[in-house]
Amino acid sequence: MDRPMDVCVLVGSLRKASFNGILANALISLAPSSIKLDIVGVGQLPLYNEDLETAAPPAPWTAFRQRVKAADAVLFVTPEYNRSVPAALKNALDVGSRPYGSSVWDRKPAAIVSGSPGAIGAFGANHHLRQSLVFLNVPTMQQPEAYVSHVDKLFDETGEFVSDGTRKFLQGFIQAFANWVERVRS
Ligand SMILES: Cc1cc2nc3c(=O)[nH]c(=O)nc-3n(C[C@H](O)[C@H](O)[C@H](O)COP(=O)(O)O)c2cc1C
Repeated sequence: MDRPMDVCVLVGSLRKASFNGILANALISLAPSSIKLDIVGVGQLPLYNEDLETAAPPAPWTAFRQRVKAADAVLFVTPEYNRSVPAALKNALDVGSRPYGSSVWDRKPAAIVSGSPGAIGAFGANHHLRQSLVFLNVPTMQQPEAYVSHVDKLFDETGEFVSDGTRKFLQGFIQAFANWVERVRS
């Protein structure tokens, strides 16, 4: 391929100092040259409401749909809220899935990184997200898995890795994802 593959990164936290946002930026810094990652916001999307699905839907919905549709792949980086997917990220999935028959997710390769200060690395959010992605026909990388626990302890105040082990793990993950995207798209 003569250009890097275009990957939308969707972060499930809207918080300015989000640890998952830091994680997403760390993954961007480690990505191989075959993929180019771009964080696409989900916080600006009005809550999905079928009444708004008219000939002129909300402009942020249209912009989001066009951006994801144009991408080669999607990387989800998300915290867990009450053992599930944060509402803002679920809303983005819903917005992208409609109008019926025009889902932007269909056959788009993806991977999930979930991060939490807790010990189980937002496993619940990661797998609830997988459930939706099965229905949305998104081929989601199965291995390696990334349940990032103690995410609040992995980076210093400038966003640098505290441990080389974390850097190596995330580098392996993002390389595997680049390989996955290439395989699915070829
Ligand atoms: C509404 C809410 C629900 C939460 N539920 C969980 C949970 O189920 N599991 C968990 O590990 N952390 C949970 N947390 C704690 C988050 O993991 C923590 O706030 C984390 O820093 C959020 O990610 P962020 O730093 O990327 O914003 C919850 C936080 C909020 C605000």
